[in-house]
Formats: sequence, structure tokens, C-alpha cells
Amino acid sequence: GASTIWGGRFAGGPSAVMQRINASIDFDKRLYAQDIRGSKAHCAMLVKVGVLSDADGQAILRGLDQILQEIESGRFTFSTALEDIHMNVESRLAELIGEAAGRLHTARSRNDQVATDFRLWVRDAVDGMEDALGRLQAALIDKAEQHAGTVMPGFTHLQAAQPVTFGHHLLAYVEMFGRDRSRLKDARVRMNECPLGAAALAGTSFPIDRHMTAAELAFDRPCANSLDAVSDRDFAMEFLAAAAICAVHLSRLAEELVLWTTAQFRFVSLSDGFTTGSSIMPQKRNPDAAELVRAKAGRVIGDLNALLIVMKGLPLTYSKDMQDDKEPVFEAADTLELSLAAMTGMITDLSVNTPRMKESAGAGYTTATDIADWLVRAANVPFRQAHHITGQIVRLAETRGIGLEQLSLPDLQSVDGRITADVFSVLGVEASAASRTSFGGTAPVNVAAAVQAARRRFL
Ligand code: ARG
Repeated sequence: GASTIWGGRFAGGPSAVMQRINASIDFDKRLYAQDIRGSKAHCAMLVKVGVLSDADGQAILRGLDQILQEIESGRFTFSTALEDIHMNVESRLAELIGEAAGRLHTARSRNDQVATDFRLWVRDAVDGMEDALGRLQAALIDKAEQHAGTVMPGFTHLQAAQPVTFGHHLLAYVEMFGRDRSRLKDARVRMNECPLGAAALAGTSFPIDRHMTAAELAFDRPCANSLDAVSDRDFAMEFLAAAAICAVHLSRLAEELVLWTTAQFRFVSLSDGFTTGSSIMPQKRNPDAAELVRAKAGRVIGDLNALLIVMKGLPLTYSKDMQDDKEPVFEAADTLELSLAAMTGMITDLSVNTPRMKESAGAGYTTATDIADWLVRAANVPFRQAHHITGQIVRLAETRGIGLEQLSLPDLQSVDGRITADVFSVLGVEASAASRTSFGGTAPVNVAAAVQAARRRFL
């Protein structure tokens, strides 16, 4: 009992099972740098306001620096009996500097301590994820520039719809990842308030300076309400929400890579670096990295759900349930870091089968809309009627087993007499894509401009 940091009122010690369910050190050791940074800020503040003597303050700061070194060089022994990172550090500090160590926890609780540590950690994770997203965007933008004029089929319902350019398709993902970044930036603004000094829940009677610790830890301000400060995990939930949406975007791109590398599509090939072979089928080149990125979205979505469900219905203020906030966040951050790196590598190395994409762009009568649009423009036919006429033309081509551009002028005129030879100018897939110059459209000129704009907006 007396051997634990909190053991004063206990006669016996915790059972082995209690220790196992209670200890978080196996995962929260990842907060060591944030924990030490927070403690140093707290210590400096206590000295400044006169709660701690200079001598004690110096001893504590030196001890904390030594512990940081011990942990970073792998010489620190973490103890499950000491439950968590906070008590592991504090207890080592007592070994190093003696009684002064016991003064560090004045005007502080593990409740505001962990809330502060975790915010610092999530804030770093946000910054890291934003950088990684920027690298992926850069890879996509470079590819898009090379393929501003590469025509491919665009799909709805995964049915061939209209010719688009591959560059345009890639830039669609640049927009998604741009929104992911902006979600992270927004979340960062809200999370950047400091819980330290809320103490257990009610604040403290010591004359602390919460503005000083907040500034020292690069927070914008202290959290305004001590009860909220120790019970809020919105910052973690928002991070996970942004991460889950990002993982969904990655999984959609991953699915397209899986699809496009099949023998049936043959639009792109992945590099040796991002594929694997089969132990039985010698011809195989499997898109494992893309499949795993697709799969890992499930984990990140699960992590968001896990934390939402932990927090749901918790009364104010701190409950031990909240110790379970960390593993989902760590897992999501690790998973996404790996997925983003893998996707960036796949995109950078991607080779594009331009002839095959172009050939496929016309399959499935994808320029039918262009015929209808031509009837509207050249013959002033109302669009609904033009749609109907074009449908009959498609049926004719289908019966003959040929493409739209293979129909003769008499064939076309047998459906509608207003059609002239000029219609052939819109039947090619390149002309079709090039004609779509409306703002945000797929024409190569638009894509070339959008590439430059994306570089300015995102890189
Ligand atoms: N390991 C704990 C956590 O992560 C630290 C806070 C413990 N506070 C307490 N009152 N038991 O939540």
C-alpha cells in the first residue's frame, strides 16, 4: 500500500489483475517527451510565483532533463507497478533528486497533467499528418501535370460515362486531401488551449499562473473552465474524425489502383517496390500495398468509433475510462502515417498506360453526350429531344456492334435528318475531353491551369 505514490490510505497493495487492468505505461510511455515538457513548464511557473524555491526548481529541471536522456537512450526502466508515464517519471525523479521531487506535483493532478500531455501529443500528430498529406498532394500534382492531356473513361456507377483526363482525376484527390488538411488545421485551433492548472478538477488554491504555462507550451491560452479542461477529449475525437475521413479518401484511391492494375483495365502499373509476387502463380503482380491501405481505413474508422463510445455518457469530470483514449489515437496516427507514405510511394512510381486509357475512353459510347450537345448547338434541338435522338443512334451502333465514330453519315441521318458531317468533330474522345472547358471541367487546358493553382494553394 504505502509503496505506491497514492498509497497513504491503503493497507494492502493492488492485486496482480488490478495492476494489469489499471496500468497504462505500456502505451502511454509514448507521452514521455510531452510529460517532461509539461512538468518543466509547471516547475518553472511554480518557481516564478514563489511556490517552489529556486534551488528545488533547479534540481527538478535538471532531474527531468536527465530522465529525458535516460528514456531517449533506452536506459530507463519502465515499471508497470508505477501505472503510467506520469508516476514513472515522478518516481525516477525522486530517486535522482530526493525530497524536492515531491514538490513538483503541487497545484497539479494527473488529470490536468494527462490532458495536457495528450493535447501536446495530438497537436504534434496533427502537424505530422498535415506534412504527410502535403507530400502526397505534391506527388499527385506532379503526376497530374504529366497527364493533363491523357484521356481516360470517366465513370458513374462504374459504367463508362464520359471521357475525362487522368490529370483531372488525380486532382480530384488533391482536393480531398486538401480538405483533410483544412480539417486538421481547424481542429488544431480548437485544441490549442492548455488544461494545465485545472488540477484535479476544481482549480487550486495556489497562486499559479496558467497563462505562463500555456504560453510556455505554445498553447494559445489556458482552458477557460477547469471542469471542462480535465474532461474534454474533443481534440482527440476531432483528430480521429479527420483521420477517419482521410482514411476513407485513401481507401477510395487505393481501390481505384487495385481496379486499374487488373488485366481487365490495364490503365496503370505499380512499381516493383509496391507490389508482391505469388508463390504459386508466376505471372502475378499483386497490389498488396493498395489493398492494405484500403483495409486500414477500417481500423481508423474503428478507432474513431472506439473513442466516441468511450466518451459517450461519461459524467463530468475525469473518469478512468478516459485512460482508454490513447490507444485508438496512437493506432490511428500510426496507421495513417504508414498509409500516407505507402500511397505517396505508389503514386510517385505509378506508370500510366496512356494508349490503353485512350482506347478504353471511347468504349461504352462515352461521347453520346457530345452528340446530344452538338444537336443542341448546331441544330437548336431542345436537349431532352437531342437526348432521345442520341439514344436511338447508340442503339443503332450497338445493333451493328460498332462504335459511334464508325457510323456513317447516312446511318446518322437515318435517325435524324438535321445531322451533318460536322458531328464527327465531336465524336473523338480527345475532342470530347478538350471541349469541357467550364470552370472545374476536365479539359487539358483547365487541368494545366489547375495544376498551377493547386501548387499555389497547397504546396
Ligand atoms: N493514466 C491516467 C490516464 O491516462 C492518468 C490520469 C489518472 N488520473 C487519476 N485520477 N487516476 O488517464
